[in-house]
Amino acid sequence: MQQPNKGLTLVSTEVQANQYAEHRLKQSDEIFRLLVDSVKDYAIFLLDTDGKVATWNQGAERIKGYSADEIIGQHFSRFYPKEARESRWPERELEFATKEGRFVDEGLRVRKDGSSFWAYVVITALRDQTGVLRGFSKVTRDLTERRMLEERTRQLNRELRGRVTELLESQRLVELRTLELQKLSGELLRVQDEERRRMARTLHDELGQELVALKLELDSATSSELKGNRNLIHATELASSALQKVRNMSYLLHPPLLDESGLLPALHWYFEGLQSRGQLRITFEYRPILFPRLQREIETAIFRVIQESLTNIYRHAETQDARIELIQEPDSVTVRVRDFGKGIPDLKFGTGIAPGVGISGMKERVKQLNGELRISRAEPGTLVHATIPTLDQV
Ligand SMILES: Nc1ncnc2c1ncn2[C@@H]1O[C@H](COP(=O)(O)OP(=O)(O)O)[C@@H](O)[C@H]1O
Ligand SMILES: [Mg+2]
Repeated sequence: MQQPNKGLTLVSTEVQANQYAEHRLKQSDEIFRLLVDSVKDYAIFLLDTDGKVATWNQGAERIKGYSADEIIGQHFSRFYPKEARESRWPERELEFATKEGRFVDEGLRVRKDGSSFWAYVVITALRDQTGVLRGFSKVTRDLTERRMLEERTRQLNRELRGRVTELLESQRLVELRTLELQKLSGELLRVQDEERRRMARTLHDELGQELVALKLELDSATSSELKGNRNLIHATELASSALQKVRNMSYLLHPPLLDESGLLPALHWYFEGLQSRGQLRITFEYRPILFPRLQREIETAIFRVIQESLTNIYRHAETQDARIELIQEPDSVTVRVRDFGKGIPDLKFGTGIAPGVGISGMKERVKQLNGELRISRAEPGTLVHATIPTLDQV
């Protein structure tokens, strides 16, 4: 059998391998060129050692506006604004890249049509294996859009800060107005209480005294020569009833006992009146048994809360049964008025719908004294719960 010529085979394999490597090199060179050329978002090009444009890609054409024919061979300083050119800034960039190997910058650049854009630029010095400078690569990215976005973000932030400041300012104003309103409504409540006291006194002391005098006159007439006169008897009855009404009105406007003897006697008097007229059946519990006197405003507020709650029960709850608890705690006083009626409609609380004057009046009164008043459904019925601090009042 003939042996194959090994030496020849070796040589031809080597030649083939070299050719193949060369082919691959060419191919990858071409692919690389294609890659660079097809990049559209970056201008990627080469400068010769003098700064003249040597290659151009699609990205460069897109960003700067020149075609390859127009720009190859031109000095790259034409991409810079006039002032930069005059101060020889482009040349300084190349010097810097030559010295340091690389130069990175952000700044204004000029397009072919004279418009400018914000560019991110990297210049890299290209040296061969022996270290000789062969030119520069330049990669430029158009940051105009990013700059605009940044500027827009900054502007929005500025606007936002402005709005927040305005908001804080109006919030402050609202707080101020709320304080003023609170002061005003506190003042109104005080004036109202004072006015009720005054009217109660006038009714009792003036109208009441005159009615007493009238009744005495009528009584003495009835017991003397006009005895048995039916008109007179009727007039006496009318005078009695008018006197009773005036007294009741006066006491309801402002129970004199409230100022003189305190909350408990005033409440007892008030409940007796309601029960004797058959309006409500009231269970009243209080602690401690020796209930102390409280500050005048607090006593008035509690009396008014109970009065308004009972009036509401009488008018709206469709029940006759009410339970009242009054508890003096170490640093607060709590009052609970509960009925067992149909319950307050859902709409009236918790939904932001303003309740009637009665409920809001109670709330305002209690709030004026730094307390809190809540109204809830009690299943069955309604519970009015108010707590007023007593420590900081004295
Ligand atoms: N105890 C209650 N039971 C049922 N409904 C009540 C009770 N208290 C109040 N309400 C309801 O809440 C509303 C608001 O009460 P209020 O503020 O005192 O105003 P007013 O009594 O003048 O209607 C009443 O109209 C009534 O519908
Ligand atoms: Mg009411």
